[in-house]
Amino acid sequence: MMSSTYGIYRHKKTISFLTLFIFAFTIFEYLSKPVIDYSENLYHIPYPIIKRSEYPVNVSSENIALVFVLSEGLNRDYYKLALDSVECYAKAHGYQFVLTDDSNWGCDYLKDKFFRRHCVIAKILPKYEVIVHLDSDIGVVNPKRRIEDYLDERIDIIFYDRHFNSEIAIGSYIARNTSYSLEIIKDFADYEKQLPDSYHGSENGALHIFLAEKLFPNNAIELELCRKAWRNSKTITDQFIYTACIRDLFGGSTDFGRLRILRKGTGHIRDTWLTSGVWSPERDFMIHGWKTPKLAEVPEGRIFPIQMSNTKWYSPFSGDFDLEKCGLGNTTWNYNEKLIGSREDVEYGLRKYEMNRAMKKIELLRGLYDLIENRAYFFRWFFHPKKSSLFLW
Ligand SMILES: *[C@@H]1O[C@H](CO)[C@@H](O)[C@H](O)[C@H]1NC(C)=O
Ligand SMILES: *[C@@H]1O[C@H](CO)[C@@H](O)[C@H](O)[C@H]1NC(C)=O
Ligand SMILES: *[C@@H]1O[C@H](CO)[C@@H](O)[C@H](O)[C@H]1NC(C)=O
Repeated sequence: MMSSTYGIYRHKKTISFLTLFIFAFTIFEYLSKPVIDYSENLYHIPYPIIKRSEYPVNVSSENIALVFVLSEGLNRDYYKLALDSVECYAKAHGYQFVLTDDSNWGCDYLKDKFFRRHCVIAKILPKYEVIVHLDSDIGVVNPKRRIEDYLDERIDIIFYDRHFNSEIAIGSYIARNTSYSLEIIKDFADYEKQLPDSYHGSENGALHIFLAEKLFPNNAIELELCRKAWRNSKTITDQFIYTACIRDLFGGSTDFGRLRILRKGTGHIRDTWLTSGVWSPERDFMIHGWKTPKLAEVPEGRIFPIQMSNTKWYSPFSGDFDLEKCGLGNTTWNYNEKLIGSREDVEYGLRKYEMNRAMKKIELLRGLYDLIENRAYFFRWFFHPKKSSLFLW
């Protein structure tokens, strides 16, 4: 009697131990980081450098404007080096440098400053043949590159891909003075009223569904599913998942009618922190992320062109700009030599990170079903990528 009860008990114990083991193993399998042997050769593929198009736009430099729309409360000092570099660059090539704020343009009906500035840009665009909208923390590192090289007679408006996620950046676009560009920019500003009551990511979040609706009006079902994801978004992870959903619709092209989206590593701008501030005169042009309060001392020792915290940046210049000395043809600037790297080294760092981000995108897409279905927040928090992993390696 005793021994048989004990036998059953032992049997039960084995079963529950097995269940526990399978459960633990499943969780471990699910959460453990995959170790994939990525091919080193993929990190050595150079990024194409945009050169003058076979379909150039005939525009004289004084009809090209570099435009900054500051919002109330922040002044030039907050972006000093960025704005000085762009002003000096504009003088070097004879472009117009336009620094304005978002009041007195008839755009006050828009509540969100991030939408309001596009309304302002739509008012400025007809004064020039080409405008380059720039976030105020974007500066020029390499004045030898030219805006004209990016222009193409077949294309009206040019965006660029962010490197660290699936986003089309809204911090800058190059627009020609055409009715198509004007429509895109105006309609986008008015898209403010379509923001859902969710973690929507403001204008940069909205840009994706806005463009997808414009470009793929026949994909009503896919659009609706991505829109659901946007409406259910509660965190930045959710927002990134929604973005990945939309980018799936775009496929591998760069050109969509008269709109172009420059692929990662080929745009006129990239973030400074992607390579710890190291840049290459052969490839780089403008750099994003130069806010005065976050400027840090260049550290001792060698600096490798790999990702660093995006909460600080190093100045690539030695000293400040003397705007008096900036003038037509002067593209000889003073640099901190330590931050100048070779094209190979810089692009190796960018490619390797791009691979890591491609996997992150796939990991985010794994959560898309849960987001569309609006599964319990705790479940999503547990299984979906954590916020910290969305930026750094
Ligand atoms: C470019 O425009 C200028 C001024 O409008 C004109 O004189 C010139 O012939 C044009 N060049 C070409 C190649 O079309
Ligand atoms: C911009 O386009 C509008 C409409 O076509 C035109 O009236 C205006 O003259 C253009 N501006 C410039 C500077 O070419
Ligand atoms: C060109 O501009 C830079 C940046 O302001 C300045 O340091 C340099 O002295 C200028 N060169 C000439 C020849 O004026």
